[in-house]
Amino acid sequence: MERTFFYRTINPGRTRSSIQIAMHQPLTLTDGFAIFASMENEVLKAIRSRRSIRKFKDRQIPEEELRTVLEAGTWAPTGHNRQDCKIVAVQDPAICKKLRELNAKIWGKDFDPYYGAPTIVLVFAPLENPNNMRDGSLILGSMMLAAHSISLGSCWINREEQMFSSEEGKALLPSLGIGEGYVGVGALALGYPDGSSRPPYPRKGGYYTIL
Ligand SMILES: Cc1cc2nc3c(=O)[nH]c(=O)nc-3n(C[C@H](O)[C@H](O)[C@H](O)COP(=O)(O)O)c2cc1C
Repeated sequence: MERTFFYRTINPGRTRSSIQIAMHQPLTLTDGFAIFASMENEVLKAIRSRRSIRKFKDRQIPEEELRTVLEAGTWAPTGHNRQDCKIVAVQDPAICKKLRELNAKIWGKDFDPYYGAPTIVLVFAPLENPNNMRDGSLILGSMMLAAHSISLGSCWINREEQMFSSEEGKALLPSLGIGEGYVGVGALALGYPDGSSRPPYPRKGGYYTIL
């Protein structure tokens, strides 16, 4: 079965108006990705090129870059437009240390789960919000893409749900400006990447279906 796609490569020198491709025969673009889709722009490129970063420079990120990432989080859609999650960026070394220790304790490893990132961004959502995990996850996703778009590195870090339901975690909440009734959704390790990131994992076949 064949389909005609209007297809513009990301390399203008190789632009073609249309090509015939067999269904399920992926196109390989110059950046090494095999795709079936026919469109391309900066957002799509950023979505494909973002990688989880697990090695950071010690240097702290400037406030303008931090605010750019946090602001992007606030633009994520929320169920019923509740906008009731809390995003807490932690740069205070003493609080960062406590977060690193608590996360590692819950993980059961003697290791910094935030990979030495100079900024840790926590996302909380109200326990009574039926979409709390969905809303918080979209916020984290938007912030990761925003970070990548301004050349910052980020990695989603887990275990905040367990951290902030433990007695030690609850005791930390006032220092984070979080009252009672919130669940920890997740966190980002955020900073300048130290070294180049690895290539993407290939996408699994059959990931999506069109019916
Ligand atoms: C819900 C979720 C939890 C994750 N938890 C961790 C984590 O605790 N530590 C970590 O290093 N990476 C974590 N990651 C990052 C994934 O391992 C990473 O996204 C995946 O390996 C794909 O790599 P990529 O982001 O570079 O495409 C998490 C990602 C998601 C979406």
